[in-house]
Parts: sequence; C-alpha cells; structure tokens
Amino acid sequence: MTGGVTGGPALAAKSWPRWLLFCLQLSLGIPALVHASCPRPESSADMVLAGEALLKNDFPEGSTATFQCSVGYVRDSGQPDITCNEGKWTEVTLKCKKKSCGSPGEVQNGRFDFTNGIEFGAVIKAFCNEGYEIVGQDYRQCLDKGWTGRIPTCEVVQCEEPPEIPNGKIVSKPHSEFPQYRDIIQYECNAGYTLFGKMNIMCNATGEYEPQAPACSKGIICETPKVPNGHRIAGAPPPYKLDYFVTFACNNGYEMDGRPEMTCTVEGWSHGPTCNPVTPLFPTAGPTKDPDEDRDAKKHETHWEIIVTVVAVLIAVAVGLCCCWVYFSRKKKGTAAYNRTAPAP
Ligand SMILES: *[C@@H]1O[C@H](CO)[C@@H](O)[C@H](O)[C@H]1NC(C)=O
Repeated sequence: MTGGVTGGPALAAKSWPRWLLFCLQLSLGIPALVHASCPRPESSADMVLAGEALLKNDFPEGSTATFQCSVGYVRDSGQPDITCNEGKWTEVTLKCKKKSCGSPGEVQNGRFDFTNGIEFGAVIKAFCNEGYEIVGQDYRQCLDKGWTGRIPTCEVVQCEEPPEIPNGKIVSKPHSEFPQYRDIIQYECNAGYTLFGKMNIMCNATGEYEPQAPACSKGIICETPKVPNGHRIAGAPPPYKLDYFVTFACNNGYEMDGRPEMTCTVEGWSHGPTCNPVTPLFPTAGPTKDPDEDRDAKKHETHWEIIVTVVAVLIAVAVGLCCCWVYFSRKKKGTAAYNRTAPAP
C-alpha cells in the first residue's frame, strides 16, 4: 500500500486503480478508527508495554497489546495480552511480583541483617561478630541481575605488640605476630620483684589490652606525693604501694583546684589537686564586687568611730566632774574640821 503513496508521477498512470482502492479503504476506515479505537494502555511500576505495542500510537478496535513485567519483576500469574473491545481494553490479568535474589551467601564470623528482605531493591547490611571487623563493602543490594558486590568478610581484631614492663617479662603469648581478640598475654616478674596488677592481660574486641599490663616492683611504687602549699590530711603513711591513696588539704591562704585525693597507680600518682593563693577579698578593681557592699562597710566603720569618740568624751567629762567634786568636798570638810578641832586660844 505504501507503494501508492511514494510511487511518483512515472507510475501514476499504472497505479490509478490502486489509488482508487486506497481512497475507498480510507473513507471506510476513518470513521471506524475515530469511533472504536482504544487509548494507549498505561504502564505501572511492576509492568510495562512490550513488543509492537510500544511503537504504536493507534490501537483500533480488535487490536491487542502485550504487557511484560518491569525490570526486577517476574510473572506471578495471568496473561500478558489485552484486546481493544468497543473502545475499551479488556482487563489485565497479568500479575507481576518482585524477583527474589535468593541467598546472598554466608558471612564468615558475621551475619547479614535481612529485615529489608531479599527481593528486588532490598539492601542488606553485614555485621561482624564481636572481635571481628568487616573487610570490604558492608552491604549488598538486590538488583535485576542479582546481588551487587561480593560477600564481605569479617577479620579478627588484632592488638598491638603487648607492652614490655620494667623488671619483668612476657612468658606466654599465643600468636608469634600480633595478638588477636581473646589472646591472653602472661607476665612474670624478675626474681626479687613483686607483681602489681594482673598477671594476665587480654586483647579485647576493640583491639586494646584489658586490664593494663602489670608492674614489677620491690613493693614501693610511688614516691611521697607533694602538693605545693598543701598538706596531707588522710590516707596511709609512706611507703606508698599500689592503690594506696592520700588526701590533701590546702594551707591557709590557699584554695583547692581539683580533687583532694591521689591514688598510687602502676603509672605513678593519679592527678592530684593544686593549691592556689586565695584571691584577695577586695581586689583593686574587682568587676564582680558590689560597690554598695564597700560603702555599707565604710558607713558602719564611721558609725563605730563616732560612738567610741562620744563614749570616750563622756567618760572623760564624767571623770573630770568626779575629780572636781572630790577636790571641792575635801577642801570644805578640811576647813570645817580645822575650825572644829583647833583649840580656842
Ligand atoms: C577494651 O579495653 C579498653 C581499655 O581497657 C576499654 O576502654 C574498652 O572499652 C574495651 N573494649 C571492650 C569492647 O570491652
């Protein structure tokens, strides 16, 4: 039929009957198309149009369209075809479901968390058992072609070389290279030394030793502690052994910063207090001081001065008056006595 449209003038005379036929078909066909064609079928998240239907724009009466499951989905049940019937599509019976990626594999010394499932789109995260660390990407995603990446591995946590201790040595260590999680290192002190702390230490899940390495000592671990401008108020007297503690107080005129106790540890005294000079009560320009306080204090001082002065003056006046009174009364009596005792000539 396309030959008639593209044939050109040279073929025109020969093609006349076909032209006529075509026009006839068109005049009959157009009304049918207008009245009974179906709209383009709509795709959904789990299914899309497939095959010829994808390229077509017109879906006349009686034509069919085929669906297929979207990427990541598979057919669960039903048929993929629909038919245009009196301008309406028959119902889609195809049911699609998400593909399952199946088992993502086993994580050695760890596990996958499957709370998101194992179907298309799901992301599963890998976790290691205690004392193990993940190597590689710690998740996989279920895509159309299966799980992304590869199974991560969990490697055992390692500790650094165990610490050497003065006057002692390591007597047992399970792995020649670096100790691993749960490995136990055993220490011993040289002859004549006593072990303080724990003989065994373990490489723990975070790659540290627990507890800290022991110390070997002849017994006295800590020197007599000194706090400048302070003095000992409680705790054992020297010699100071492990875990002994002392409590300090500051001398007069000093105030404490920090905790008053110090404990003797294998690393020496724990952080002790410091004694700092007490800040003067009335600093030259103390910004935190209330100026009213000063004024009130002065006022009280002045009051006292006045009262003392007044009392002193009153006492002085009273004493003066007393003296005068005694003097004059003596004088009077004296004259009277003389007059009385003197024999009359
Ligand atoms: C391992 O030991 C260190 C130091 O003793 C400690 O801080 C840490 O909490 C320990 N880790 C675990 C998981 O117990």
